[in-house]
Amino acid sequence: MLLLCVESSCDETAAAVVRDGRQILSSVVASQVDVHALYGGVVPELASRHHLEAITPVIEQALDEAGVGIADVEGVAVTRGPGLVGALLVGLCAGKALAWARGIPVVGVHHIEGHILAHLLETELAFPFVALAVSGGHTHLYRVDGIGRYRLLGQTLDDAAGEAFDKVAKLLGLGYPGGAVIDRLAAEGNPDAIDFPRPMLKRKNLQFSFSGIKTAVMNHVRGRDELDQKAVRDIAASFQAAVVEVLVRKTLLAAEQEGIDRIVVAGGVACNSGLRRRFADLAGERELQVVFPSPRLCGDNAAMLGVAGDYYLDNGHASGLDCNALPVWPL
Ligand code: KG4
Ligand code: ZN
Repeated sequence: MLLLCVESSCDETAAAVVRDGRQILSSVVASQVDVHALYGGVVPELASRHHLEAITPVIEQALDEAGVGIADVEGVAVTRGPGLVGALLVGLCAGKALAWARGIPVVGVHHIEGHILAHLLETELAFPFVALAVSGGHTHLYRVDGIGRYRLLGQTLDDAAGEAFDKVAKLLGLGYPGGAVIDRLAAEGNPDAIDFPRPMLKRKNLQFSFSGIKTAVMNHVRGRDELDQKAVRDIAASFQAAVVEVLVRKTLLAAEQEGIDRIVVAGGVACNSGLRRRFADLAGERELQVVFPSPRLCGDNAAMLGVAGDYYLDNGHASGLDCNALPVWPL
């Protein structure tokens, strides 16, 4: 099936054309990062307005780059939630309108379901696997037994890991969003310079907490004179090491508890080079298969919706045209 996929849950307007839930023919992402950077975070009202401006050109570009016309599209997959309601509505209404006009089915897909299945656009991986969904809004562990078959194993009790990266970056005056900047600076810093806490690590459960690390960084910085570049690099490296350690240990515990040796790490924070390296090392030591989507499929994009979208439409689970956006939607 030739699917048009549309994503607008946060600050990226994205459209993609995906064939049979496996082959990406095009993937266009228009980022609003520059707009929100001025305010140090996503401003929901501005996000909706910019989605509205971008949605039609982005869909047209995705069709053009795939070398297809709207008449060739056989179904539409669109993010239904979770996310900012005004932002979600723009993509959802565009997707439903196109489906209605063309008389083709549309399906609303869960954003995190998109993230944790994205790797299937690049590689084969058997079910079941343990998925760590780690982004600006999520730090969740799932057992995945098949498409549509997810069991939540654990999640953060407070901040998401990406949120912690962004808040620490703001604290260090590194701008928004901060994950990629911290990642870059961490590569030049000493990860052992400061012993930041590893929250929840001693507890043998699958819960996370990142607000404590953020506070520890704040306390470390408070009262110091201007930080020189070396100090900033060392804080970035030590903070990243603490977050990575917790993410990796808890994910390995989940895999062990479930008796599964396949792990998928997905979402924007899965771009993090320290996280990738640490998982790769442990995978070698423990004979685990750890899969990361390539960076373009880790951050928000529409192609990732194609895997579940194709499956649901193929199995007769289209959404009605009355399907509404769900800002909060447990997977
Ligand atoms: O999945 P995503 O694009 O959007 C959400 O659904 O939230 O994730 C965005 C998050 C942001 O918090 C951003 O700072 C973080 O992913 N991020 C990173 C890196 N690249 C993006 N965090 C750590 N290291 C990176 N290289
Ligand atoms: Zn996301």
